[in-house]
Amino acid sequence: MPANILVDYTRPFSTLWLKRCADNLLRARGLQQKELNVLLTDNPTIEQFNRRWFNRPWPTNVISFPMDDMDCLGDVVISIDRAREEAQQGLTTLSNRLVELLVHGFVHLLGEDHERGPEDALRMGHMEFELKKTLFRRNIMADLCINVDHVATIRQARGGVEPEPVVAAGMVELAGADGVVVHLREDRRHIQDRDVRLIKEIVQTRLTLEMAATDEMISIASDIRPDIVTLVPEKRQELTTEGGLDVAGLERSVTDAVSRLHDAGIPVSLFIDAEKEQIEAAKRTGAECIEIHTGRYADARDEKTRDREFDKIAEMARLATDLGLRVHAGHGLNYQNTGRLAAVSEIVEFSIGHSVISRSVFVGLERAVKEMLSIIKG
Ligand code: PXP
Repeated sequence: MPANILVDYTRPFSTLWLKRCADNLLRARGLQQKELNVLLTDNPTIEQFNRRWFNRPWPTNVISFPMDDMDCLGDVVISIDRAREEAQQGLTTLSNRLVELLVHGFVHLLGEDHERGPEDALRMGHMEFELKKTLFRRNIMADLCINVDHVATIRQARGGVEPEPVVAAGMVELAGADGVVVHLREDRRHIQDRDVRLIKEIVQTRLTLEMAATDEMISIASDIRPDIVTLVPEKRQELTTEGGLDVAGLERSVTDAVSRLHDAGIPVSLFIDAEKEQIEAAKRTGAECIEIHTGRYADARDEKTRDREFDKIAEMARLATDLGLRVHAGHGLNYQNTGRLAAVSEIVEFSIGHSVISRSVFVGLERAVKEMLSIIKG
């Protein structure tokens, strides 16, 4: 049974990652048949729970309510306010802190209690450590999110109504993709504003909106509220996104964009080159995620260069994961070069567009998506 995430908070709050983590926690313990309820709330509400059930009149960070039930493991209540304070004190992101609190609450539901004594505290700490390792390092398969921009490119070639990218979004989901990606470019060369709105309405997995960090785009994103925004650099003359965002050089403005998107309840990923300096800067901006630009690996003309670019991606994915960032990858990936990257366990999501949409012309969209899924999850 999938985990239920409920939000009772003053502002909109994306539950995407916590849901994924909660489902994976159940799976990691072989408890996927059980129900798990997670309530995200604020300090006044958790204080009421703490006072009423434990006679402790202060806002705590997490409370677990185990359920003595065949079908339900129990409820975990987490204060977003406390998690935010603790994230700032512990120099981590809000998402990471929420995941840590979820793991803590989950282990309580399993019957562990650190307050029983030092041995119990040690055992509980060890269990939490192992579960976090599973979640952050992942021994589950990476997700595949399909970029449907090029369906819109064909539509725009005639300025008409077909093919419809909104239909493509539904079809890629039906074929098993884990999410849909669109890039709303400032020049609107393919995806249009209405496409983003309609796709957001219909997706049942998740929608990633790629965009430049401009006022216009931040305002559109805050209004439509995709599940995640990926900030990319944009030049009008380029054919496609060339090179990653220079987060190290633009740290102040990127940090500002990240925090404005966070204020709208939207998690943020930064599309960057596989470089230490960029990853460290990305971490400082408060973004939850990076997407490693795989273009240089994909475009390598000889094996030696490809090997070198691959090693760089794998090493930087490890570094980013160690810093607590989630790692996505994309650009130029196709049916030949994706398999090798799929073995890099720190990469938890692939964003692929052009090769899948191109193949769909010959084999159909469903088959094109399924073939890519089998490379990534196979
Ligand atoms: N990720 C980002 C940030 C991109 O800008 C693009 C291209 O729109 C992709 C992934 C997908 O690249 P491709 O179309 O080459 O698969």
